Amino acid sequence: MRILVSDDLAHEGIDILKQEFDVDVKTSLSEEQLMEIIQDYDALVVRSATKVTKNIIDKSNLKVIGRAGVGVDNIDVDSATRKGILVVNAPEGNTIAASEHTVALLMAAARNIPAAVASLKSKKWDRKSFVGVELRGKTLGVVGLGRIGKDVAYKAIGLGMNVLAYDPYVIKDHVENIHIKVADLETVIKEADFITFHVPLTKTTYHMIDKERISMMKDKVIIINCARGGIIDETALYDALVSGKVAACALDVFEHEPPLESPLIDLPNVIATPHLGASTAEAQVNVAVDVAKDIIRALKGEMVKNP
Ligand code: MLT
Repeated sequence: MRILVSDDLAHEGIDILKQEFDVDVKTSLSEEQLMEIIQDYDALVVRSATKVTKNIIDKSNLKVIGRAGVGVDNIDVDSATRKGILVVNAPEGNTIAASEHTVALLMAAARNIPAAVASLKSKKWDRKSFVGVELRGKTLGVVGLGRIGKDVAYKAIGLGMNVLAYDPYVIKDHVENIHIKVADLETVIKEADFITFHVPLTKTTYHMIDKERISMMKDKVIIINCARGGIIDETALYDALVSGKVAACALDVFEHEPPLESPLIDLPNVIATPHLGASTAEAQVNVAVDVAKDIIRALKGEMVKNP
């Protein structure tokens, strides 16, 4: 059996794969380059850079595709499934990294930290421009209460925030016992002072936050998105940031990455990081190890953990 790793994967994961099978690491391949070599492999392991398109899948004899991370939106799962190729991911290993980055951005936005740092580094002693707002006693709207959303909610409760969450799949009593109030999406976005998103990008969540939903939000709301670009309509968000309806937002993800042409990143009330949610040393090892173990299980015909 031969495995192709086409994105940078922590060596701990590659070492596990190498104990069982032949592994090639070839990164930064174009779709055409990948199509030329993919027939030689039984398994493909990616992070987010490789887009596993229908063209690649159709050319392949793959048995399994592994995603070292949560989101599988860079893999054409429908085409893979039609071809009988199993897709596995690693949904647990970067939960803490993503939730900690969310809280970091929440605080950075509430206290204008990036702008204040830039100001002082440009040799200005300006304290008046950077008066922030406190988190304690404010309502955090959490859209999506999966592993990451729930962990963000726990941390926010620890900071003295009220958490109001929307998730169509969550059992209300279950989370209300732990002080997370559950409501429908409209109520959450109308009542929250800060809103954070933790849903995958699917046909249903694409532009779930549009002009109309932004208009329902409180004036001066602060928005955090460490989930996926595409959940929020970026044109509507831009307009709301310019008008002041949305006081600030902190974005780790963009509809098109890298977002170097996006006017959003030039706005003074936007904090932007380059998709760093899962970028901790710990998380990269966790997801590499988890996906490697599932690839081996799949190639040996055993039950996988994260199909
Ligand atoms: C994920 O889906 O696991 C994160 O967004 C991190 C990544 O894309 O690498």
